[in-house]
Amino acid sequence: MLIRYKKDLEKIAMGLLSFMPDEKDVRKLQETIQAYETNEAWHLYLWREEDVLGAIGLRIEDDTHAIIQHISVNPSHRNQGIGKKMLDGIVKKYAKKYELAADELLNDFFEKYKLFIDEQKTENE
Ligand code: COA
Repeated sequence: MLIRYKKDLEKIAMGLLSFMPDEKDVRKLQETIQAYETNEAWHLYLWREEDVLGAIGLRIEDDTHAIIQHISVNPSHRNQGIGKKMLDGIVKKYAKKYELAADELLNDFFEKYKLFIDEQKTENE
């Protein structure tokens, strides 16, 4: 399930975000996590099963737009659908109020997710 980031999960969240290609530098990573802690427009969520296995973050741009800007899954648990489930959770939480887009790094994965959802809808029709 998707849970809201809180300070006592900082280490695990930083570990997960460090898999993002643009979060390899420790100082950048610290700035990013601080932004999620202090900037009201930035929202970070973690995917928890028995352990915390993924992270997904978005920023609210204005009253109608939000950008998904980080997504990462523990390498030992990839290709099991967790990335898609996290996107699903964010879509369910935010898509009523905001038009959601992905930033450049996430764009291909977000497009793939949308195709996957469309295919599922077609199968259920
Ligand atoms: N772009 C497009 N598709 C991607 C992708 C990417 N960057 N990364 C993985 N995929 C595809 C896989 O090839 C797989 O495709 P298939 O279903 O056709 O076999 C599918 O996404 C797997 O989906 P899912 O199991 O839901 O994803 P995941 O739990 O493995 O998580 C990421 C996907 C991207 C979050 C994970 O690979 C990760 O943490 N990568 C490192 C962080 C990163 O680079 N994030 C930014 C890029 S999105």
